[in-house]
Amino acid sequence: MKFFVDTAEIDAIAELNDLGMVDGVTTNPSLIKKSGRDIIEVTKEICDLVSGPVSAEVTATDADEMIAEGRKLVEIAENIAVKVPLTWDGLKACKALSDDGHMVNVTLCFSANQALLAAKAGATFISPFIGRLDDINIDGMDLIGDIRAIYDNYGYETQILAASIRTVNHVTQSALIGADVMTAPPNVIKAMVNHPLTDKGLDAFLADIKAAGIKIL
Ligand code: E4P
Repeated sequence: MKFFVDTAEIDAIAELNDLGMVDGVTTNPSLIKKSGRDIIEVTKEICDLVSGPVSAEVTATDADEMIAEGRKLVEIAENIAVKVPLTWDGLKACKALSDDGHMVNVTLCFSANQALLAAKAGATFISPFIGRLDDINIDGMDLIGDIRAIYDNYGYETQILAASIRTVNHVTQSALIGADVMTAPPNVIKAMVNHPLTDKGLDAFLADIKAAGIKIL
């Protein structure tokens, strides 16, 4: 499974990237706002750091403007994936930009039909938002499963990018269902290492190391 990190914070991306945990990055307008940085500048810095796809989201809602913004965003670096919303205009922009040979991430996906449309419009990535469905008492994992089945039925190559991941269990479930990629905030990726039995076991080993005076160096 590919891991994308869902942030525009350079230090957090760099830390995970040094460990080989970063196959790509996703940003959105809220994450850019949180970073307090200029979108072009911060996106360029991310692309200098990470060789995999870096999603940068358009701000327009009209297809022609989205296409123009997308063409500007792809000038930042070769690994830019233009992020467009799952609207009719967004699908038009997806088709035009993917026909140009650019990677497109279709975002704000909340239904299997939307995902089907995105695949037909040539999306590189479809981003179903798990956490935001959970927020309204709909199991986001069912959507990931439905999209996986539909894409496999017809051989669509659009990659399922499980997004709006809020918990470590979302990561496990997405991986079990077969999402191609997951994007999660740095704290969720780092929390995946935690297990109480690891902590308990390490405490016991440390006590024995001290009691026996075991030394290696
Ligand atoms: C990533 O591409 C999405 O924009 C992001 O995962 C949304 O997450 P949120 O629902 O926690 O804001």
